[in-house]
Amino acid sequence: MKRVSGKNGGTPPPGVTFAPLRPGEPWFDDAVRLYCAIWPDDADDIAAFIARYSRMLDYRGLVAVRDGRLVGFGFGVRSLPGNWWHDQVAEHVGPEHPALRDAWCLVDLAVAPEERGRGIGSALMEALLASQPCSRALLSTEVENATARRLYEHHGWTYLHPGFAFVEGRQVYAIMRRELAA
Ligand SMILES: CC(C)(COP(=O)(O)OP(=O)(O)OC[C@H]1O[C@@H](n2cnc3c(N)ncnc32)[C@H](O)[C@@H]1OP(=O)(O)O)[C@@H](O)C(=O)NCCC(=O)NCCS
Repeated sequence: MKRVSGKNGGTPPPGVTFAPLRPGEPWFDDAVRLYCAIWPDDADDIAAFIARYSRMLDYRGLVAVRDGRLVGFGFGVRSLPGNWWHDQVAEHVGPEHPALRDAWCLVDLAVAPEERGRGIGSALMEALLASQPCSRALLSTEVENATARRLYEHHGWTYLHPGFAFVEGRQVYAIMRRELAA
């Protein structure tokens, strides 16, 4: 287990429990629904998208549940050359950058709007980081997403790249990194 920091160290807030996010497990369809409510998309495409990640190296995924209702989820995988996201970041920071070595990528983190600001997002993030095996972590977040950036900044993430568009003409994403204690 990695040592984790943060207000709650990955322990769910009172009344919230964590369970695995994986196709076929309870809550998977609810997580897909929440995903599509936050980032409108086709549910089947998103189910396939998460399922694809769930087969990748060092996949970790969690859902947060309160009162029999899914209220959040997060997942990530080891960041490896050959992976589209990793290769795009490598292009911008240099493929030999030490932040890219032995790094785990937090792919998505989301909490239902009415449940935000109660520590669920932080706890999901810390629990995921604690459960994965890499020495450091990476993520991308929209430069315009001040809420998410502030949350990550408060939890020890720093900027590896101030921002670029993964797809030309689309949103600009900051790349953030965090060193994790062994
Ligand atoms: C980003 C996101 C996941 C954060 O989830 P969250 O559950 O609101 O996160 P937290 O409650 O842990 O932290 C949010 C704020 O609430 C505060 N907070 C944390 N625990 C708290 C508690 N027990 N009581 C009251 N407030 C608390 C935190 O201080 C934090 O403020 P800060 O960022 O200024 O430090 C959520 O806003 C979201 O789903 N956004 C849309 C999707 C998104 O943008 N995802 C990230 C893309 S990479």
